[in-house]
Amino acid sequence: MRRAGSPGQAVQPAVGLPCLISRAPASTWRPSSSRTESAHVRPQNTGTHQIAGPRQAADHDRTSHRAPIAPAASNTANAPLPVRHGRPALRAALAAATEDAVIYDLDGIGRQYAALCAELPGVAVRFAMKSCPVDEVLGHLARLGSGFDTASPQEVAQALRAGVAPGMVHYGNTVKSDRNIAEAYRLGVRDFATDCLEDVAAIAVHAPGSRVFCRIASTGEGALWGLSRKFGCSPEDAPRVLDAARTVGLLPSGLSVHVGSQQMTAEAWVAAIDSLAAVLKALSRRGITPERINLGGGLPALGVLDRGGRPLVPPLREMFTAIREGMERLRVVSAAPLAFLLEPGRHLVADHGAIRAHVARLTSRHRLDGIREDWLYLSCGKFNGLYEMDQLRYRLEFPSHSGEQFVNAVVAGPTCDSDDAYAQEGSPVRVPRAIASGDPVWVHSCGAYATSYATCGFNGFPPLPYTCVGGQAVSGEDA
Ligand SMILES: Cc1ncc(COP(=O)(O)O)c(C=O)c1O
Repeated sequence: MRRAGSPGQAVQPAVGLPCLISRAPASTWRPSSSRTESAHVRPQNTGTHQIAGPRQAADHDRTSHRAPIAPAASNTANAPLPVRHGRPALRAALAAATEDAVIYDLDGIGRQYAALCAELPGVAVRFAMKSCPVDEVLGHLARLGSGFDTASPQEVAQALRAGVAPGMVHYGNTVKSDRNIAEAYRLGVRDFATDCLEDVAAIAVHAPGSRVFCRIASTGEGALWGLSRKFGCSPEDAPRVLDAARTVGLLPSGLSVHVGSQQMTAEAWVAAIDSLAAVLKALSRRGITPERINLGGGLPALGVLDRGGRPLVPPLREMFTAIREGMERLRVVSAAPLAFLLEPGRHLVADHGAIRAHVARLTSRHRLDGIREDWLYLSCGKFNGLYEMDQLRYRLEFPSHSGEQFVNAVVAGPTCDSDDAYAQEGSPVRVPRAIASGDPVWVHSCGAYATSYATCGFNGFPPLPYTCVGGQAVSGEDA
């Protein structure tokens, strides 16, 4: 295992059969009046926990999943984890960890990158490094051919350290000060996102002659995080913005869009393509012919649950079909040949990162209304690795418990802050009744936005160290 930022870790023997926790059916859970109940979380007819989940064998789901979210009535309490959680390298690293850490599987990330490139041949990938600004991850993706979407001069500098040429790095943040622009330009960046006349004027002064791509606003509908309003201009404004860019000596080289993060519908891309097509036509009437379309991020993680504990099952195949068909439509509309870019973040890394945490305490208390509630407090939470835990849920695994007796618990992080918890809606999480302070907990599919959103020590809880496994196939480096 390659280590980064973590002390040496001894191998921890696996204890018993791991207990795989998903959730109880939403319809059946009530706060418990009796703390203990029997559960059958481990599937019966198998000796392995690598069992059919939403995806069977590939990183990309090639089967059709029409419903973005599994029906609430389906019983996923007994549902096994998707096969990706059985990946040996990540599991071995989790099992070997005796201290808390974020663990990234570089080979898994590499496979995800390759699968994405296979789905969208010819589309250039600019990894949104905000989702995982880990040197080893960036270096691995750079060696595989990825460029980077950056949002600050600091990210530009880190991307360059990963080994890519400045031409493989664009500044995708429409929000930037004069100083940000000048510094990025000094570092060699020549591609800037924009969405307003003020920003265009500043780019003209501080990054003269650069290429700009205009971000078109999207509704963010269908996404867990819409990213609407703060960024992007209307399709009607876009020609004015790019016209102004041309007037001040910039190259109006492209358009971009972002359909919202953890997008759950293929229709979002169809709508985005509609907007882009309309803008291309309007630009052509002004004699502006963009040469690049950036289709942004938004592709989802596959192994997470929604706030209520239901598996989020994105229609990935339909999404890729919509993107491929959309690119064809735009090529037909465009007056000039078009190149396409994508700037995925979470889709490349989320399912290939996991956290080895531990139990702080399993407690049982009466609420003000007299109902007893069980809470599982973990050593990591919203402020040190699981920032998105109040908007989605991660699958938990309790490797030191075979689990016959369970309690239904609300899961929360270790800080003295009430936001530091899973949303208290839907079904609770089944937790082995015998779990004790210090027992290991594996948090799956949390590779996106784990390190980048960690606070520097909220309530004194430091950011988790991280380690990386794999990556030798490309780098040839020693593990
Ligand atoms: C400009 C830009 N591109 C790409 C991304 C990556 O998005 P995601 O992680 O949903 O793929 C983001 C995330 O907020 C973004 O702001």
